[in-house]
Amino acid sequence: MPYEFLTVEVVDRIATVTITRPDKLNALNARVLAELDGVFTALATDRLVGAVIVTGAGRSFVAGADIAEIAANDAAGLERLSAQGQAIFNRIERLPKPVIAAVNGFALGGGCELALACHIRVASEHAKFGLPEVKLGLIPGYGGTQRLPRLVGKGRALQLILTGEQIDAAEAYRIGLVDVVATTATLHDVARSIALQVSKNGPVAVARAIEAVNDGFDRPADDAMALEARLFGTLGATKDMAEGTAAFLAKRPAQFSGE
Ligand code: COA
Repeated sequence: MPYEFLTVEVVDRIATVTITRPDKLNALNARVLAELDGVFTALATDRLVGAVIVTGAGRSFVAGADIAEIAANDAAGLERLSAQGQAIFNRIERLPKPVIAAVNGFALGGGCELALACHIRVASEHAKFGLPEVKLGLIPGYGGTQRLPRLVGKGRALQLILTGEQIDAAEAYRIGLVDVVATTATLHDVARSIALQVSKNGPVAVARAIEAVNDGFDRPADDAMALEARLFGTLGATKDMAEGTAAFLAKRPAQFSGE
């Protein structure tokens, strides 16, 4: 699929997906959403890719859903749009390889929600986060009302959602909304080094870890533990587990095949 609003570059098994609609601060219109859906569907099974970085071109990560498109929708259209955005961001959250948000600027509304759907968030010191939908007479609709409280707690999430205020990277780090803050100059190197670090590990184990955390999170503890045990067990049948443990015992680096 030729992309109008994405560039995709693969170096050292790390795919960098750059949302490239800078004149609209990378706002998510229907085409950008469809392209994100397409690229993440392809990346999920691309054996040449072990990790993904998502970032934005220019001074913004993503400044939200496209407000002009939103304004043209009726109630049924908005519900469909929300379900569509949620499905795409769920696909990102469930990708069986690490997805790292390199937040280079505004991460507002759908942009904040995109970052929330990623597994790890790295922000430039000048990044700004917020869910300003209530200022538009809306609520976050791409998972923000659900993922933000799970990440930072209900009180802080409600404060951000109800005020619609923007917070800077330092505050986002303080409340646990971002995991690492980098300078503007080092943002992409920091994101890459995390991606490289993860992609040296057993790929099947990384995929199962993502699955265990995602699928266990909202289950009762006993159920979630049973899920962990089941996934832990499946790794016993993998070449990666045989290789990882043999390499440790032989005091040599592991060579994982992803099988
Ligand atoms: N949807 C559609 N267009 C958007 C947009 C969005 N979410 N965010 C920014 N843009 C457009 C602007 O309309 C403007 O387009 P124009 O040059 O054709 O007029 C362009 O991007 C640049 O934005 P501008 O507002 O001029 O930049 P700024 O530096 O003054 O302000 C923001 C930056 C991010 C504070 C401001 O653009 C903003 O508040 N955006 C909306 C954020 C939002 O509410 N997101 C949630 C949407 S549900």
